Amino acid sequence: MSEFLKLGVLISGSGSNLQSIINHIEQEGLPARIQIVVSNNPDAYGLTRARNHHIACAVINHQDYSNREDFDRELIRILKDAGVDLVVLAGFMRILTKSFLRAFENRIINIHPALLPAFPGTHVQQKAIDYGVKFSGCTVHFVDEGVDTGPIIIQAIVPVLSDDTADTLAARILIEEHKIYPQAIRYFAEGRIMKKGRHMEIINIKNCDAAALHNPPLDR
Ligand code: GRF
Repeated sequence: MSEFLKLGVLISGSGSNLQSIINHIEQEGLPARIQIVVSNNPDAYGLTRARNHHIACAVINHQDYSNREDFDRELIRILKDAGVDLVVLAGFMRILTKSFLRAFENRIINIHPALLPAFPGTHVQQKAIDYGVKFSGCTVHFVDEGVDTGPIIIQAIVPVLSDDTADTLAARILIEEHKIYPQAIRYFAEGRIMKKGRHMEIINIKNCDAAALHNPPLDR
């Protein structure tokens, strides 16, 4: 592996997580380089973000493919040609085939806007509100064959407030996504993720805070 971890970032939309990764590379010494950004959506704003930073982009419009295998074959080709070490799913709204998972085994990560294993899938901020949980958050995990079931690398917790809408909760969660995704990439780049079954042990972490959180807060 070179001095920099070579990333392939897959997006479908706004790309705010992509932006955060770019910012951490440019300003925070994240030892990674984005080789290519790939979008399945030609109108994804994330493509503009990438171009603003002179990052190579590719669009593979899923509507041009009659099946997932063909779509993924093209995706694999583009990522391999770009020499990608780690595939970073950042709001990529396509399910990947087993062939793709095999091509990048243990080298695909995803960010999910809920505290997994609670609320996998889509529209999860609304699901958290509807369920009445007092905390939600976000999770970075390796991708396996299930939907949001892979081994967890890092999570962040945010409170769910009584007047939250899906949008206000999503915004609070997104702030934390922008912190934990670059952190997870740093762990990977620095070889600090030790795999023990489905437990991902992170080595050389700063002092771990074991304090409990309460929401609503205790009266005293
Ligand atoms: C994020 O909430 C991410 O967790 C989810 O899709 C959203 C993408 O946001 N998978 P962005 O495109 O990075 O702004």
